[in-house]
Amino acid sequence: MIITITLNPAIDKTAQVYDLKIGELNRLENVLIDAGGKGINVSKMISALGANSIACGFIGAKNEQVIIEKLNELNIKNDFVKINSNTRVNLKVIDKDAVLTELNEQGFEISQKDTELLEKKIASLSHSGNIFVFSGSIPKGAPLDIYERLIKIAHGGGAVCFADCEGEAFKYALNANPDFIKPNLFELKTYFGITEDLTQEKIIELCQGFGRRNIKIVSLTLGAQGALVLGGFDESAKNYQEGFFAKGLKIKAHSSVGAGDSFVGAFAYAYENNMSLEDSFKLAMACSAGAVCTQGTNPPDLELVNELKLKTEIVKLF
Ligand SMILES: Nc1ncnc2c1ncn2[C@@H]1O[C@H](COP(=O)(O)OP(=O)(O)OP(=O)(O)O)[C@@H](O)[C@H]1O
Ligand SMILES: [Mg+2]
Repeated sequence: MIITITLNPAIDKTAQVYDLKIGELNRLENVLIDAGGKGINVSKMISALGANSIACGFIGAKNEQVIIEKLNELNIKNDFVKINSNTRVNLKVIDKDAVLTELNEQGFEISQKDTELLEKKIASLSHSGNIFVFSGSIPKGAPLDIYERLIKIAHGGGAVCFADCEGEAFKYALNANPDFIKPNLFELKTYFGITEDLTQEKIIELCQGFGRRNIKIVSLTLGAQGALVLGGFDESAKNYQEGFFAKGLKIKAHSSVGAGDSFVGAFAYAYENNMSLEDSFKLAMACSAGAVCTQGTNPPDLELVNELKLKTEIVKLF
């Protein structure tokens, strides 16, 4: 079973305003409400591929129904630690020229007790055959090393761990040697403190370094430019024996929000189904490009994924 962990979920409210004006009354039209948060997006992609996952993490109990109902509609099982507060609401307003303005709340604050409850939940789900996906930012009040702690607990029970986060959270997650990581170029450069442009050769060299941490698969996504993946991890050499690159698919882009989450969801699905590195990568490329074609964070349907898979060209690097 795949278990996605969202520590800071959101209720995504998308609306249209013909002509947005600061300091005036703006009337919202076509208001859409969706369950958001990176782990939840990963669960949505897995569900679109026809598989099951459990969405876990924290949720604000006071307005939890909005998210729970959405997940139930999508047949996504859920088992959150409830916080005695509200889940944040992120308002995305689109004007007549399709310009997006975002008004995001910070989200609830969690206590040490809440963290302990989540640790217990994860321990109870940590056994071989289970795959945890830790995605996104951490809420106020959470220890900075929360991902490191949770990944160590999951590994302790024999589960596989995927991590997709940035900044300090990424650094701490890496301390626990997750099995799969998917930084984007900005996250990779931030991690290494690099500001200059990187050649593909240098990117591969930097990614090879993750082998020392026993990370089994590293995928580096480059937005519209595509992605690369290193796998075939050699335990004794601590390096990757296989590498692939794919150019970004030429598609009619609607919203790139959640493209990375669809990529991760596809990889988790592929891992659970023992797919080869190349096939996993192809599926992830098709799913992420498909996510860009859909509105908001909606995942693409299977038909679109299969169509895009046929268009994906995978180049073997080594
Ligand atoms: N404009 C685009 N055209 C085609 N494919 C895209 C585009 N943007 C993203 N993708 C696909 O989505 C993948 C992930 O995108 P990106 O590198 O932007 O992830 P990210 O920064 O982690 O996104 P997220 O906001 O979900 O965290 C890319 O490798 C590519 O396959
Ligand atoms: Mg991302």
